[in-house]
Amino acid sequence: MNQKATLKYGEKSYSMPIVEGTYGEQAFDVRSLRKDTGLITLDSGYMNTGSTKSQITYINGEEGVLLYRGYPIEQLAEASTFVETSYLLIYGELPTPTQLQAFSELLTYHSMLHEDMRHLYDGFPSNAHPMAILSSMVSALSAYYPDSLEPDTHDEHHIGRVLSKVRTIAAFTYQKQHGRPVAYPRNELNYCANFLHMMFSHPAEQTYEPDPELVKALNVLLILHADHEQNCSTSTVRLVGSSRANLYAAISAGISALWGPLHGGANQAVIGMLEEIRAEGGDCSAFIRQVKNRERRLMGFGHRVYKNFDPRASILKTYADRLLSHLELKDELFDIARQLEEVALSDEFFIDRQLYPNVDFYSGILYRAMGIPTEMFTVMFAIGRIPGWIAHWKEMMEDPDLRIGRPRQIYMGAKRRDYVSTEERHPRSP
Ligand code: ACO
Repeated sequence: MNQKATLKYGEKSYSMPIVEGTYGEQAFDVRSLRKDTGLITLDSGYMNTGSTKSQITYINGEEGVLLYRGYPIEQLAEASTFVETSYLLIYGELPTPTQLQAFSELLTYHSMLHEDMRHLYDGFPSNAHPMAILSSMVSALSAYYPDSLEPDTHDEHHIGRVLSKVRTIAAFTYQKQHGRPVAYPRNELNYCANFLHMMFSHPAEQTYEPDPELVKALNVLLILHADHEQNCSTSTVRLVGSSRANLYAAISAGISALWGPLHGGANQAVIGMLEEIRAEGGDCSAFIRQVKNRERRLMGFGHRVYKNFDPRASILKTYADRLLSHLELKDELFDIARQLEEVALSDEFFIDRQLYPNVDFYSGILYRAMGIPTEMFTVMFAIGRIPGWIAHWKEMMEDPDLRIGRPRQIYMGAKRRDYVSTEERHPRSP
């Protein structure tokens, strides 16, 4: 189907091709707009701008659908592992048993950090935010693997390294901040179990054996976070990578973008909000009234794309229930979260604006149950998102049409004027 759209401007008409995706979603192809008309499109926040065609992840925000390479998120959460899902995202197909073994081994044998990197931790203050350490350490990896600086390098080892070492960096951060020696990875453990071991092993205690229920819950959390098409951090990875900066630099930039409270940082903000509600007596209706008066924001609610429900939030709510009962834990914050959801979902303010719980609303409850401290939540999100960032970076690097990302602007500032020396400058009236 070669559909075209016609744009009329002034006396002239311009023809634009229509691009159609797998599920019939359509876009005006404006790539020759400026050349043909001299005009650009203006779309702050990129509400209507497709930055690329992609084969990795499909989201239908109206119907709450999320597919990785065609596979529904619910099926992957139920049956897959984080390592297998990472392979799927990065290489496009579910691995055969041989491919999965080779990929798992790649991750197992790249889990250590160069010993010199361990000393870098000593330079950070003990109260440094773990996201600051994570982005710095990931960027520093390029210093230890300088062949990654070669433009257009496609060495698969860099993919294995960043995916594997990120959990070592995160766990070392946690141990160092608690004044403990780091726990080195153990090759006989799988990806998630190894992470839990590096986080929670204590030198004075018996060998830590990760609880299989915690391992399953962690796999699910990481799978749910593994990709979400062109969000803020993934677009950052693509933009940085488009300049042919190395993979570690691009991923480090993605980590920084994820840090913000309107993106991955929301999971930490949700727990802060729930704690405040508890401290104020646990009155969810009063909190919702404040949100409606725009005095506060309901963190973990709302999404640019999901306008019905976020399928990841539904899965996490079920797993939060499952994990808390397995651990025989009672968490008041989970009760408050459930009440808050109930009050919000029956309120016109949230219904009219199509605001529903997003992935961050319940993820913190699970992390708390696992013993992961609040300031590490966004780091957990970053570990999960690494395969998505890699998949997008790889897809972009393999695209023969790759060009450096460079948006334009409409300049609204002062017109050309001449420089005035300091002495001649008069104070501006207020
Ligand atoms: N609480 C209260 N009101 C909200 C919320 C919220 N969480 N989210 C949106 N709204 C309101 C806005 O005030 C606006 O109302 P108005 O039209 O009367 O002014 C309307 O809903 C539309 O909101 P926008 O901000 O225009 O939506 P946008 O798509 O730009 O923002 C975002 C999406 C950033 C996620 C927003 O919903 C938000 O700030 N949520 C809380 C933070 C959060 O949970 N972020 C995590 C997102 S998931 C992720 O990144 C992994």
